[in-house]
Amino acid sequence: MPGAVIDRILPRSVSVYETHADSQDGFLFPEERALVARAVPRRAREFTTGRYCARQALARFGIPPGPILRDAHGAPVWPDRIRGSITHCDGYRAAAVAEKSSVAAIGIDAEPHTALPPGVLGTISVPHEAAGIGALLRGRPDIRWDRLLFSAKESAYKAWQFPPSWLGGGRAQKELDFKDITVSFDVARAAFTARIAAGGATPLAPTAPHLAGRWLAGADLLLTTVVVPAVPA
Ligand SMILES: CC(C)(COP(=O)(O)OP(=O)(O)OC[C@H]1O[C@@H](n2cnc3c(N)ncnc32)[C@H](O)[C@@H]1OP(=O)(O)O)[C@@H](O)C(=O)NCCC(=O)NCCS
Repeated sequence: MPGAVIDRILPRSVSVYETHADSQDGFLFPEERALVARAVPRRAREFTTGRYCARQALARFGIPPGPILRDAHGAPVWPDRIRGSITHCDGYRAAAVAEKSSVAAIGIDAEPHTALPPGVLGTISVPHEAAGIGALLRGRPDIRWDRLLFSAKESAYKAWQFPPSWLGGGRAQKELDFKDITVSFDVARAAFTARIAAGGATPLAPTAPHLAGRWLAGADLLLTTVVVPAVPA
C-alpha cells in the first residue's frame, strides 16, 4: 500500500496493506467465518479486516482472494509461495506478505503507544531486560520502552512461525514463552535483536538463533517488524 506507515520499517520486497478503520469491503469465506463463529463482534471485525488487509497485500503478487485459515498455533496459513503476518490493535490493522524466494520469515506487530499495565513487564521480560528499560527511558523518555519490548517479542514470536533451518529453527520443539525471547534495542538505528531459546540454547546464549527487527514509534502507535531474508538458492 503506497504511503503506508509500516512500510518505513519493511524492505521493498514486502507487500503491506494497513488501515486505521474496519473496512466495509471486508468479507470472509465460509471456512474463515467458521473460525470466528462464536467470537464477539469486535473480534470478528478485527479478524475480517485483518483478512481484508491480507488479501489486498497478496494481490500485489497476483494472488486472487481465497480463504486464509489458521494453523494449530493460531497463525495464518498462507499460500504455498508466501510468508506473511497480520496484526491488529485499537485503530490499526495491517498485513504484510512476501514471496518466500525473498523472505524466509516475517512477523509484524502493532501496539498502542501506552505503558504496559502495572506488573506486566515482570511477566514478559528477564531481569536484565527489565533493568534496561530504565536506561532506555532516561535516553528517550518519549517512548514507552516496556510496550515496545512487548511488541518486539510479539513480532519475533510471529516470525518464528517459519523458523529457517539455518537459524537453528524448530518451532515444533516447544511453544515459545515471552521469556524464551530476549530483545536488545539499538536506539540510534531504530532496530533490535531478538534472541530465541531454540536449538538447545538459552535466550541469552551467544549461540541462540537471533532475528533482526526494526521499530517505529508514532504518537499513538508502536510498530515492530522482523524480517529474515531468504538465502539465495
Ligand atoms: C499470537 C500473539 C503473538 C498475537 O499477538 P497480539 O499482539 O495479541 O495480537 P496481534 O493483533 O498483533 O496479532 C494477532 C494475529 O497474529 C497472528 N498469529 C496468531 N498466532 C500466531 C502464531 N503462532 N504465529 C504467527 N502469527 C500468529 C494471527 O494472524 C492473529 O490475528 P488473527 O487471529 O485475526 O488472524 C499472541 O496472541 C500471543 O502472545 N499468543 C500466546 C503465545 C505466547 O504468549 N507466546 C509468547 C509470545 S513472545
